[in-house]
Amino acid sequence: MALYSEKVMDHFRNPRNVGVIEDADGVGEVGNPVCGDIMKIYLKIENDIITDVKFETFGCGSAIASSSMATELIKGKPLSEALALTNKAVTEALDGLPAHKLHCSVLAEEAIKSAVKDYYDKNGIEYDHSQFPEGESCPHCGE
Ligand code: FES
Repeated sequence: MALYSEKVMDHFRNPRNVGVIEDADGVGEVGNPVCGDIMKIYLKIENDIITDVKFETFGCGSAIASSSMATELIKGKPLSEALALTNKAVTEALDGLPAHKLHCSVLAEEAIKSAVKDYYDKNGIEYDHSQFPEGESCPHCGE
């Protein structure tokens, strides 16, 4: 069996929603200290709906495929759905990632959460802080 699914290869080769939103309503940036990869997510939000989303990822192919798929999964969706998106859902939508690459999809989940938090903070919107655990460790390496 191939190491990477067709979907992973497709989203790696033709990533969707790459770029920057200059006047984004929320921006989230996260990094994995172990591999050094960085992911940045930009959100446009209107009436609680994500009307546009773009990403920049300086990282491995799995991180690029994960960000691409994650942006597709939250585009046009309410913020509540974006916050509920797990790295597991991203991985499943990609038809799986090799075990040692699962942590790459965690970056996508964390970057989206961080962008939503940025939007809430900038607009003084109350939110449940437990939705944004600080300093979550990487399930892969524990750091
Ligand atoms: Fe760093 Fe994939 S190896 S995110």
